[in-house]
Amino acid sequence: MMREEDAERVAEYFSRPGTVAEWWHPEEGPLAFHYAAELQVLEDTLPVDPSWQVLDVGTGPGRFGLWFASKGCQVIGVDLNPEMQERARETARRRGLEANFEVRAGRAEDLREFPAASFDAVLCMELFDHLPDLAAALAAMRRVLRDDGRFLFTYVPRESLYGALGDVYRRLRAWFAPSDLMISRTYGFAEIERALAAAGFRLEQHFGVGALCISAQTRFFGESVLQRAATALARAEARRWPYHRGAFLARRGAHVVGIARPLTSTP
Ligand SMILES: C[S@@+](CC[C@H](N)C(=O)[O-])C[C@H]1O[C@@H](n2cnc3c(N)ncnc32)[C@H](O)[C@@H]1O
Repeated sequence: MMREEDAERVAEYFSRPGTVAEWWHPEEGPLAFHYAAELQVLEDTLPVDPSWQVLDVGTGPGRFGLWFASKGCQVIGVDLNPEMQERARETARRRGLEANFEVRAGRAEDLREFPAASFDAVLCMELFDHLPDLAAALAAMRRVLRDDGRFLFTYVPRESLYGALGDVYRRLRAWFAPSDLMISRTYGFAEIERALAAAGFRLEQHFGVGALCISAQTRFFGESVLQRAATALARAEARRWPYHRGAFLARRGAHVVGIARPLTSTP
């Protein structure tokens, strides 16, 4: 399991070229439909105002930040990884969005360069599971969010098939190779609610993307027939239900998309 004492090793991993940029291509490949559904949640749910100032923490290729930029918002994307920063900048240029989307080097746990309450929306997508100190990152992100702002995030629930399989893999790896660096983990729904509350957020809405999407665990299935069959099943699910709203399945997507508000805001 990922350990808080490995925080610097994990940060060093993500800062290095040839690491996350090699394996994170959510908009390409057979699972693009799954990652596109995360954006669909925002498209269907979020009343975006073009006047918003947005911070995209762990922006990666910039897909969420650029979505806000395409709506007219001013967006800053921060990321630890120089290759990802460059990829996000390049995509912004290609899409003619560079005036609305600035990319900087930055770390989720340390956002001191930004004044308090300076953003209307703070995003932390596909990053919770890679943060050794979620509490520190949540506190940093809460500080820069306005009291009437929105905090958008995803996490991998241990209640999901995808999360449970990933946990089996991590347990086996911790057993057979205890000195290996672990760069991901899962969370339980109650744990996320508690972590959010401790940082001064309340969860307003959450959606489950891909309850059957076990093929995202490519470590288990490789390129096998099983992998193709699992992807076909996940695609069929996504066609019928791009995401789930009902409490049971919303907590059991391969990824949960959450929308939280500061505790000080009126419900
Ligand atoms: C799995 S990718 C997700 C990227 C993007 N949010 C998306 O959904 O496509 C995680 C990104 O977070 C970055 N990252 C990892 N740890 C970070 C940290 N502590 N602070 C900021 N960025 C971090 C990685 O370099 C990577 O680009």
